[in-house]
Amino acid sequence: MKIGIDKIGFYTPHMYVDIKELAIARNVEPEKFTIGIGQEKMAVPPITQDSVSLAANAALEILTDEDKKTIDYVIFATESGIDHSKAASIYIHELLDLNSSARSIEVKQACYGATAGIQIAKGHIALNPESKVLILGSDIARYGLHTTGEVTQGAGAVAILVSKDPKIMTIESPSAYQTEQVMDFWRPIYSDTAYVQGKLSVDQYLSFFQSVWKEHKEKTGFELKDFESIFFHLPYTKMGLKALRTVIDEGTEADKDRLLANFEISKRYNTIVGNIYTGALYLSLISLLELNDTIEPGARIGLFSYGSGAVGEFFSGILQPNYRDALFADQHEKLLADRKEISVAKYEEVFQDTLPVGIDNIALPIDEDPATICFSGIKDHMRQYVNKNK
Ligand code: CAA
Repeated sequence: MKIGIDKIGFYTPHMYVDIKELAIARNVEPEKFTIGIGQEKMAVPPITQDSVSLAANAALEILTDEDKKTIDYVIFATESGIDHSKAASIYIHELLDLNSSARSIEVKQACYGATAGIQIAKGHIALNPESKVLILGSDIARYGLHTTGEVTQGAGAVAILVSKDPKIMTIESPSAYQTEQVMDFWRPIYSDTAYVQGKLSVDQYLSFFQSVWKEHKEKTGFELKDFESIFFHLPYTKMGLKALRTVIDEGTEADKDRLLANFEISKRYNTIVGNIYTGALYLSLISLLELNDTIEPGARIGLFSYGSGAVGEFFSGILQPNYRDALFADQHEKLLADRKEISVAKYEEVFQDTLPVGIDNIALPIDEDPATICFSGIKDHMRQYVNKNK
């Protein structure tokens, strides 16, 4: 049975800061951020967007009423969780009127979580071929003002519908995966910003990529020539390029040209959104699928997922006939075009506009947020969400 991605969409908040302006404000040469890090714009979430509302907005655009009836498993991947106990996916059930005959869970392993969700979904559909599984990867990347990680912040969510006979991409087996205990990046439960050992995280990412790439080659016999494109988890776009460069000499000149050209297209959305942690790999996939005009159905693509801490996985997929017809390119173009630039001073103000820990009641200014679904406040310690279409 063919199992894979049937639909895929994303959402990012309505505000961004220009990376060159951030560089100037931080007394850094702009080329360090635009070339050395590889970013152009960084999404800035208002207080009315959290991981739940971002994910709900991403799912809203891709699901039909028929999908909502058929989904029997919702897997919410995040490292920006809002509750130690309750799964964020349950709020999505209510906001989008999903069928209640469903499992609904939250998974966590840094930026690897959504990939874990996809592999769980694959197993579930193998046992229940009529099922559809909704995977949500949603995060707000926060390191803090004036930190070296600041330029690699961002916010957004991906929504992925996995089913049999998928319209976009089948997921192949086997994949290659690896786990090691390493403190390269983590977020203790008392902190709303990440702790990171930046250089160590970059080294670990590259080392994991090389290990799982080698293991995948041994398991499958696939080489660079077999891949039309290779996608990477993109905490910042230069990171994926660094990884690609570690293996690119294994191929011919034609392989190099193809993979580097497709990498350029696959990083486009990430360049103007920033790091969205667990959704970042899939934002890159959406970018290439929607922006390329040469990749034919039947092409094999490779995906490298990395979650600090750390788990890495390399797997592959095959693009399906008419995959372009199943994309949401026009909606995404509009979403990105409708965003507004804010100054660095405004970004700093928004960044520091956080809820006091333990606050029991508050109403938030959802009228200032054009998103359909917003985090509207807290009542008696219960988070409140609004779907303005309901
Ligand atoms: N023009 C062009 N390039 C310039 C430049 C200039 N004027 N000045 C500097 N550069 C280049 C540097 O040469 C360097 O390039 P290389 O990496 O190719 O050597 C690049 O800009 C960055 O410079 P630094 O290494 O000096 O940057 P930094 O010390 O300020 O920190 C960072 C960079 C470690 C990525 C930091 O932003 C960080 O900690 N980010 C968060 C952690 C992260 O994203 N890690 C990635 C792997 S972990 C992961 O993937 C999981 C996740 O999502 C967090």
